Amino acid sequence: MIKKIGFLLISVVITAIVFFNGNNKQANAQNFPQRSGIPAKLAADYIHSVIQAGRKVYSDHIVDRLGKKIDLKATEDWKHEDTLLLPAQFLLTSSQLSNRRGVGMRYSLMSLWAINPKNGPVSANEKLGLEQVVKNPDKPFTWVVQTHGVWYFQAIYPDIAVNDSCVSCHNNHMKSPKKNFHKGDVMGGIMINFPLGGFARKESKEQLLIAPEVVADYVHSVLESDRTVYAKYIVNRLTEKKVLTVKENWMKEDALMLPAQFLLNASAVREKSLRGLDFKLISLWPINDKNGPANAFEREGLESIVVHPIRPYIGQTSVGRKKFFQAIYPDIAVTPACVTCHNNHPRSSKKDFKLDDVMGGIVVTLPLN
Ligand code: HEC
Ligand code: HEC
Repeated sequence: MIKKIGFLLISVVITAIVFFNGNNKQANAQNFPQRSGIPAKLAADYIHSVIQAGRKVYSDHIVDRLGKKIDLKATEDWKHEDTLLLPAQFLLTSSQLSNRRGVGMRYSLMSLWAINPKNGPVSANEKLGLEQVVKNPDKPFTWVVQTHGVWYFQAIYPDIAVNDSCVSCHNNHMKSPKKNFHKGDVMGGIMINFPLGGFARKESKEQLLIAPEVVADYVHSVLESDRTVYAKYIVNRLTEKKVLTVKENWMKEDALMLPAQFLLNASAVREKSLRGLDFKLISLWPINDKNGPANAFEREGLESIVVHPIRPYIGQTSVGRKKFFQAIYPDIAVTPACVTCHNNHPRSSKKDFKLDDVMGGIVVTLPLN
């Protein structure tokens, strides 16, 4: 049902855009052989759910908890104050890292009433998309558009004022052009944009499909970026400044959670919101035995990415009649804290990690049918 609506919407919008541009030269049916893959709308849903999961873990378990427990604030000028990034800044910093990585997919947080003018819509489509999610907050607005001969799938998901602090901070912010947000309002949107390769065509009877390995790259890019922002700008910065410590038992000790726990908590959030997509962190030298390779595929994958860290190790598995695509990406020691903590941990079986080493792998699993 959702797929059908997504498809209808896509074809209506393709037709509309092709019609408005008066340009259908690229939309030639013969050029596009039938291929299997993940529908573009579902790919965007996966990406969005991972972005949301990271944001939720950061807002709930870092900003809210530490604000209440030890009065550590999130402030706009976090770089000069010994504070936390605002949730919007966490997302934006992470998206900049991911967008720079050049995987093809880009995402960002934007609004019609942006505090930072850089977060305003840049195209007529983005403006329309933001207006649409304000009107219909229960679904994303999606469309396809052609730029320099390449078709892109674009989606805007509503960003909602989930608590009073969203509302009060924005309404009272000097630079906010809107001063009457209420709890539950759509304050802006998360925009996701990726190329369709040779798949888009006018009035297609098929779905717009994306190769699973490409979708896995997109999902991984978000995870990796969140993880890096958390490790660098929260864990490393605040422990170096002696504002906080990082503890396995972070909840009880009013401390920061480990980077691994950030990813694990994100995966727990997401499990509820999107069945099927799965991610986890594993290693050949796990501190926690549960994070060792679960099967031959995971073991081979870990062995492979240690020596070939450029490309993920990929494969397909099936459970009963369900098929899954899996990719294992290297998990790199991005900050000195990764190395020091693991090398000195009593349960770590490897004591000679160095900066930039592959310490383990991020496994992304996508359902195929
Ligand atoms: C303590 C203040 C504060 C809180 C709390 C806060 N924001 Fe923001 N928000 C900001 C600032 C400042 C920016 C601009 C960041 C930048 O420079 O890019 C921003 C950016 C945004 C943007 C991008 C558009 C823009 O205004 O630049 C959205 C959308 C947004 N916030 C939504 C939310 C939501 C939803 C919440 C609650 C879950 C929230 N904000 C909580 C201060 C806040
Ligand atoms: C303060 C200590 C600490 C820091 C800093 C830290 N880790 Fe860990 N890491 C742990 C602990 C403890 C676990 C086991 C968590 C669990 O119980 O699942 C773990 C788990 C992992 C795992 C899963 C396999 C395993 O060992 O159980 C990987 C991979 C990993 N960390 C990589 C990293 C990377 C990369 C960084 C830096 C971005 C990092 N860690 C930073 C302590 C740390």
